[in-house]
Amino acid sequence: MKTILQKDIWSISSFLENKEYKFDKENILTHLPEKFIEEAIEVISSWKSYSPTPLIKLNKLDKELKVKNIYYKDEDKRFDLKSFKALGGAYAVYKIASEKKNITVSTATAGNHGRSVAWGAQRLGLQCKIFISENVSESRAAAMRDLGADVIRVKGNYDNSLKECIEQSNKNRWEIVQDVSWEGYKEVPKMIMAGYTIMIKEIFYEIDSNSITHVFLQAGVGGMAAAMIAGFAKLSKKIPKFIVIEPENADCVFKSIQNNKPTSINIKKETVMGGMSCGDVSSIAWEILKNSTNYCMTIPDNAISTAVALLAVSRFSNEKIIGGECAVPGLIALIGSFNNKEYLDKLELNSESNVLLFGCEGLTDKAMYEKLLSDGLQKI
Ligand SMILES: Cc1ncc(COP(=O)(O)O)c(C=O)c1O
Repeated sequence: MKTILQKDIWSISSFLENKEYKFDKENILTHLPEKFIEEAIEVISSWKSYSPTPLIKLNKLDKELKVKNIYYKDEDKRFDLKSFKALGGAYAVYKIASEKKNITVSTATAGNHGRSVAWGAQRLGLQCKIFISENVSESRAAAMRDLGADVIRVKGNYDNSLKECIEQSNKNRWEIVQDVSWEGYKEVPKMIMAGYTIMIKEIFYEIDSNSITHVFLQAGVGGMAAAMIAGFAKLSKKIPKFIVIEPENADCVFKSIQNNKPTSINIKKETVMGGMSCGDVSSIAWEILKNSTNYCMTIPDNAISTAVALLAVSRFSNEKIIGGECAVPGLIALIGSFNNKEYLDKLELNSESNVLLFGCEGLTDKAMYEKLLSDGLQKI
């Protein structure tokens, strides 16, 4: 087996220091208010099927990289949905349904969010309309149909599916349950982000919040990343460095931080990391990320299969981990940083560092996972 640090595998496409960094707890919690977080945590933790997902120590990787600890939040174990997205959409459906009767819910999705909305609708016996693009796999579509949703495929990419969802929902008076916010549409995305914050609560139940020094956060529209930052703002005294990771082909947060204003990306080539293939940062997420992100990084697709395989064969930890394509960007960016002295020095990653990674999804797309695993196994 080759060494983990072999240079040609773990490349980072670009690196950016946020010149506008100025962490402001109170300001963050005006965008994702504490009462939203408290209510979401209370409601979700009362669900019958709820149990916290594991926080796994990557005790082989931390030795190899010579950092103190690396923790991996394993969202493969999140309900039966196998991604953190299960926490957001389903919770928002529950909240909307408790205020309005006889509703049909709708959303656009790359897969995981739609599954969460469909699951939430099924639990309450609601009609559910899900819009997907050409790029969403049939197995992801089937998983949503199995939860009773009507799945509508739209020509073009994710942004086209979102436009179609908004148009049809307005026409038919369906309740949009979207994980991205825009001018005039903020309450539901706030509920969704509040749902995600339970991950932080669970993590702090296992380790001292003040010990974490670095948090690597994947971003699509930025909702997850911003929610985790809000979770720290609410639940931790000490604030670690936040590093946002995106696919090089869908770097809307990176470009927005670089330009100090929300910047749209025209996605020319689809990444393997489908859940992160988004052209626009969510407006609430932006309000949080713009001054709380320390660094942004983008990565190419080429290390995804290797990382998936190394997790699966327990190369990083004592146990085997099932991590899908959106589970590994943080891991790739972390290892990649050790191949670049300049990035490493900026990040101040060293033997005192306690790093937190989010394994955002597990076996959410069986065919894709098996392909990545078999490709990866040939490379390691
Ligand atoms: C597994 C997974 N990870 C990360 C993301 C990115 O989350 P966000 O769009 O909130 O930035 C997504 C989005 O769908 C996802 O499905």
